[in-house]
Amino acid sequence: MNESVDSFRLPIAADVVALDQLIRTRLDSDVVLIGQVAQYIIGSGGKRLRPALLMLAARACGYSGADHIELAAVVEFIHTATLLHDDVVDESDLRRGRKTANAQFGNAATVLVGDFLYSRSFQMMTSLGNMRVMQVLAEATNTIAEGEVLQLLNISNADVDVEQYLKVIRRKTAKLFEAAGRLGAVLSGADATIEEALAGYGAHLGISFQLVDDALDYSGDPEQTGKNVGTDLGEGKPTLPLIHVMREGNAEERALVRQAIVERRIEDLPAVLAAVHRTGAIEHTRAQAAVAAKTASALLKDLPDSSYRRTLLDLSTFSAERSF
Ligand code: IPE
Ligand code: IPE
Ligand code: MG
Ligand code: MG
Repeated sequence: MNESVDSFRLPIAADVVALDQLIRTRLDSDVVLIGQVAQYIIGSGGKRLRPALLMLAARACGYSGADHIELAAVVEFIHTATLLHDDVVDESDLRRGRKTANAQFGNAATVLVGDFLYSRSFQMMTSLGNMRVMQVLAEATNTIAEGEVLQLLNISNADVDVEQYLKVIRRKTAKLFEAAGRLGAVLSGADATIEEALAGYGAHLGISFQLVDDALDYSGDPEQTGKNVGTDLGEGKPTLPLIHVMREGNAEERALVRQAIVERRIEDLPAVLAAVHRTGAIEHTRAQAAVAAKTASALLKDLPDSSYRRTLLDLSTFSAERSF
């Protein structure tokens, strides 16, 4: 894993080792195919940003118990379940530098193991017996599902505007980051101001994170991102880089992108990429990500200084500047 991601784990190095161990233990099932698919996706790594956020948030609030490890695993399982389902829906074939689970095991096994991970995460969270924790996670998973359905409704719709786009990414991505930040505070018994600060931090970090993901879909190096370029275009997804071309491009570029979205014309990728670059759509999307990351960082002002708080500040900078 890349060094700049590893640096976020330094202040919580022992927690990260415990998390890795716990994830293995909690994947346990006597149904062989579950283990195979779950190991396949979880064993391929991932940045593990959401659990890092949860554990850093808890530690930044002075938490000294052990439940943050269980909750960090819950958040990573929910994230992994959404990825399994998302790759089926998006018909993606590359994730984390290898074939997606759907490409390897088929759609049926992938959806069902996604369900296993969701329901396992609910078993784990109820084991903590904390009603607030369950409320936060139940709301988050429900909101993510809404976000994914909302996104489905926007497919092939070239009239989606920035507000509609933001509505999707707040739900499908930012909500889980928000929950991770909030849970760190809830576990620690932090007061409402701190809880809202960490929840807001997570939400804005998540927006920044998805904006960059959408920029990388047109500009990333598959060697670094572990994902293909142009997946969103092939899906007819109206993300910010394309919305930007349709606002700022010339008549020809606007018509090209409109048709590519409506007809999911992956074969137009080279021309669309030219329009994306000519109109500065990547820079624009990254600039918006930087704004969201700054907003996230500003929300941490009331947290006492610590290596954990400083790492959270680094995390928002990374989120906006990352190339993987
Ligand atoms: C991918 O998330 C899905 C998005 C919300 C963009 P990550 O980029 O965190 O995926 P992994 O876990 O590191 O592979
Ligand atoms: C994020 O959107 C999906 C979820 C929040 C599950 P994407 O569809 O852009 O994510 P990637 O690019 O496939 O990782
Ligand atoms: Mg996808
Ligand atoms: Mg993407």
